[in-house]
Amino acid sequence: MNEDFTQVAEAFSRKALVYDDFGVDHENLTRMRQTVYAQVQSFLEPGDHILELNAGTGADAVHFAKKGFQVHATDISPGMVKQIGSKIQAMGLNPLLSVEQLSFTELHQVSKGPFQHIYSNFGGLNCISDLREVTKHIPKLLQPGKLLTWVIMPRVTPWDWRAALKGDWRTTTRRLQKDGIRANVEGVEFQTYYFSPKDVMQALGPGFEVVKLQGLSTCAPPADNDGFAKRHPKLYRMLVRIDETIGHWRPFNGWGDFFILSARYQP
Ligand SMILES: C[S@@+](CC[C@H](N)C(=O)[O-])C[C@H]1O[C@@H](n2cnc3c(N)ncnc32)[C@H](O)[C@@H]1O
Repeated sequence: MNEDFTQVAEAFSRKALVYDDFGVDHENLTRMRQTVYAQVQSFLEPGDHILELNAGTGADAVHFAKKGFQVHATDISPGMVKQIGSKIQAMGLNPLLSVEQLSFTELHQVSKGPFQHIYSNFGGLNCISDLREVTKHIPKLLQPGKLLTWVIMPRVTPWDWRAALKGDWRTTTRRLQKDGIRANVEGVEFQTYYFSPKDVMQALGPGFEVVKLQGLSTCAPPADNDGFAKRHPKLYRMLVRIDETIGHWRPFNGWGDFFILSARYQP
């Protein structure tokens, strides 16, 4: 397979200009990032080197670099890479944080490694139809015994079921479409794909075992919704508490706006 990511790179380069503003004063998004950070951090040891795939504007890369970890951030979009470069300069994060413009299908070209953690947040990996184009590179980059944490959009997200109440079956079932769905980011269209934890583990192969799997925003609103928490604070907090409990149980741990999957490489 030779997937063309030109549209994706263009879409997210445009998005890079407004991406960080969207996260300002966004309680729901902040909660979701903190949940991801807690899971990743629980597997890190001081001085660990992290490879970040589809790093976006580098919010997470900066977070982990400020905690003292060595982070190598990669992304396909020139606009995103530029944002990370600006942050490295402005915050004086060189040499803890480095950046490289690279598709996660070209990881054989990564200029550093091996790494003690390989991290991908908030659905960058949903931009590819066949995860094996990424996973085939992992054994050369990840130190045996260490983990990856990937945050991926699943096929099942109960929040979408609300659309059924309005008779909107297209939204209700959109993630179940076999060939993915069209996304439109800043006026540029590209195809996105949804995966179950089983799909991810099959792509990783037998050298990997799941260590932790958690559903993120299974009942609570998805990442792009910042209004609900403000309009219904009590209900929001209740949904988050339900999420924090059932998000660890099967099958809910593979449902939600995302699931957070940490897997150990044990060849
Ligand atoms: C929704 S953003 C997530 C960014 C970041 N991880 C975060 O948590 O904010 C998706 C990112 O995936 C990147 N991306 C999409 N396809 C990619 C590919 N083939 N290789 C590397 N990055 C890719 C995009 O450029 C974009 O920055």
